[in-house]
Order: sequence, then C-alpha cells, then structure tokens
Amino acid sequence: MRLILILTLLSLNYTVAQNSYSTKSNWLIDTNSSEEKFKKIEKQLRGFDLAMVEVGYRFNSFYFAIKDKNYPLANYQWDKIKKAMENGVQRRPKRESSSKAMFLDTQYKSMKIALDKKDDKLIAKEYQQTKQVCNACHVAERVPFIDVIDPQYRWQPIK
Ligand code: HEC
Repeated sequence: MRLILILTLLSLNYTVAQNSYSTKSNWLIDTNSSEEKFKKIEKQLRGFDLAMVEVGYRFNSFYFAIKDKNYPLANYQWDKIKKAMENGVQRRPKRESSSKAMFLDTQYKSMKIALDKKDDKLIAKEYQQTKQVCNACHVAERVPFIDVIDPQYRWQPIK
C-alpha cells in the first residue's frame, strides 16, 4: 500500500516536472547576464541578519570558552565575531556607524586586551559590558526586541 502511494507520488512528480517547471539546480549558471548573476549572489549572501546569526552562534561558544578558561578558543571566536560584523557592514553599509562606534572601534578592542591578559576579573567585566553593547546597538538599530542574554546551553560540539 505504502509502495503504491510512493510510486504514484513519484510518477506525479515526474509528470509535473516534465510539464511545468524545471527541477534543475543550476540557478546561477542558467542565469544569462553577469549582472543578473551577481544580483542573485548578493541576494543569497544576505545582509546584516545572517552576520548576526553567525555572531550569535559564535557568542555562545565564546561565552562557554571564557567560562572554561579556554583563552585560545575565546580569542578565536572573538576575532571571528569581529570578522562577521565587518562582512555584515560591507553588505549593509547603513549599519557601519553603529558597528564602529559600539563594537569594532571600542568593545572589540577592550575585550581583546582583557583576553590577551588572561585576566578573569577583567574578562568578566568586559563580558557584562559586551552584552550591554550588543543590546544598546539593537535598540539603536531599531530591533530592541532582540535581547542578548547569557547563553543557557552549549550549541556546539566543541569545548
Ligand atoms: C550594529 C549594531 C549591532 C551590534 C553591535 C550587535 N548587533 Fe545583533 N543585530 C543588529 C541588527 C540590526 C539586527 C537585526 C538584523 C537585521 O534584520 O538586519 C541584529 C540581530 C541579532 C540577532 C538575531 C539574528 C537572527 O536573525 O536570528 C542576534 C542573535 C544578535 N543580533 C546577536 C548579537 C550579539 C551577541 C551582539 C554582541 C556581541 C550583537 N548582536 C551586536 C545590530 C547589532
């Protein structure tokens, strides 16, 4: 019974594919002009939102790295957070002034100093400040409903 259903669905799918739309995945190669191709790539690379998804992911790992006193991992994630934000700014230049004022030219650097010193007290202070900075920027950039909190669980299979 289940096999018949699957076969029916497959043949239906085949008929639809034959008749009305392409199931090919060469969406970029099949685009004619270079300009259209670049437009499609730009769209796929997205804007500041995906940069922030990466920042959020790395912030989780960063948080547990400082808890574990794994300074090389904390440093690694902190630098990648910066890189993600810089790339995000390139894609969405209207986020540049806040990114620089609140993070890239300021909080990024002061946390970096604390990490390089491996000074746990200073790192803890800078961490609290980082959360405030993340949220201040969310207010400034009109997404106050995105509230950065202490990560509750490890998302990564790394430590
Ligand atoms: C330039 C100011 C700015 C700074 C600094 C900033 N954010 Fe954001 N964040 C934004 C904006 C704007 C959005 C909404 C994204 C969009 O729609 O473009 C956002 C969205 C997010 C999201 C939601 C992403 C999603 O779509 O699911 C997370 C997670 C996030 N930020 C985490 C952080 C963390 C953690 C920090 C601090 C380390 C931080 N942000 C610092 C501006 C900022």
